[in-house]
Amino acid sequence: MEANFGFEKNWVRKVVFCLCLFLVLSAPLTCAGRTTLSTTTTGGSGGSIQKLEVQKHLKNLNRQPVKTIKSPDGDIIDCVHVSHQPAFDHPDLKNHKIQVRPNFHPEGKTFGESKIKASSNSKPITQLWHKNGRCSEGTIPIRRTKKDDILRASSVQKFGKKNQRSIPQPKPAKPLPDIITQSGHQHAIAYVEGDDFYGAKATINVWDPKIQQPNEFSLSQMWILAGSFGQDLNSIEAGWQVSPDLYGDNNTRLFTYWTSDAYQATGCYNLLCSGFVQINNDIALGASIFPLSNYGSSQYDISILVWKDPKEGNWWMQFGNDHVLGYWPAPLFSYLTESASMIEWGGEVVNSESDGQHTSTQMGSGHFPHEGFGKASYFKNIQIVDGDNKLRAPKDLGTYTEQQNCYNLKTGSAGDWGSYFYYGGPGRNPNCP
Ligand SMILES: *[C@@H]1O[C@H](CO)[C@@H](O)[C@H](O)[C@H]1NC(C)=O
Repeated sequence: MEANFGFEKNWVRKVVFCLCLFLVLSAPLTCAGRTTLSTTTTGGSGGSIQKLEVQKHLKNLNRQPVKTIKSPDGDIIDCVHVSHQPAFDHPDLKNHKIQVRPNFHPEGKTFGESKIKASSNSKPITQLWHKNGRCSEGTIPIRRTKKDDILRASSVQKFGKKNQRSIPQPKPAKPLPDIITQSGHQHAIAYVEGDDFYGAKATINVWDPKIQQPNEFSLSQMWILAGSFGQDLNSIEAGWQVSPDLYGDNNTRLFTYWTSDAYQATGCYNLLCSGFVQINNDIALGASIFPLSNYGSSQYDISILVWKDPKEGNWWMQFGNDHVLGYWPAPLFSYLTESASMIEWGGEVVNSESDGQHTSTQMGSGHFPHEGFGKASYFKNIQIVDGDNKLRAPKDLGTYTEQQNCYNLKTGSAGDWGSYFYYGGPGRNPNCP
């Protein structure tokens, strides 16, 4: 059994306005605030400096809501006016004009008003907080950041960012993968390399892998990459993740990520920094996905499409069949202002080997690919957007895993599944001690 999420395109129903924004920028506050603090606070008050920093950061992330919804999982979802979102604090997005719809869609969808029907009453639940309400048009749902979320990070500055200080060179033993390998991180991925990719799509099976240590995570995502794997890597990422450190629980959550300098100073998860412009009022980044797949029983998946608008150069993201979530504005990037040179799909976990053994943190469903449908997790209908702005199956799909006995991947191609693969594994087991 599969369930695909279908939605109504209510976001464009009446939206024909463009908002020109002149915002009082609060971005410089972080630096300015720190300077002031360290000069006015003398001796032994590191704690209060941190406290103020945390408060300031919270104030910057959590915008004045029009309405607040309490999700059954403890999340607070703030419906924030679309023009008040964090994106517009970005120095490169001063006077940015919000795009209310993409100029182009690789599946040939049109977003003209006449084609859009009024939203129906019955909408499938795809995120847990939908059980307790919805955000109205003109607002976007933002998962409220709590003080404890920030305190779990190693510093205020690192909160919401991938912890990736160095990016080792590709292993010479393996022919291709310019994969970002980081000690302790394990992957099972499929990838394509080339000169001009203008997007990617996949339908990803959703599970709740067990995480052994709170500082570990398990995610399943796609990466859209450009630039060298040195200091200037550009990356757009989206998928689902379980990350106790980031969210404070073991829930499976929808996430996005971006960076334009190999995870150093720029970018973040979700809306945890300025950059991504959200226009959709139904889907909250970082919110729990519902329902999830069960071993040997019901299977659920999410579809994610990311593509470049050839006119404006922005990278758009669609969730499910109809939810255009928003976009990463072109000015955020260097290499991705042209095209992507590599697309990757698959899983990643952190193996901290805290007890001297391989972690038992699971990838995908926690079961190996050979178990197949209903038991192993999958990516299906994986596609790229080519130089003609058309979606097609990737040619010459490569695969990469560090330790097949811990996590593995198996590709295939068939009928309505198109190009697909099963991936994942349990981590620690007799063959992965
Ligand atoms: C997450 O799951 C692990 C076991 O897999 C458990 O030890 C831990 O307490 C859970 N964390 C939270 C925040 O629920």
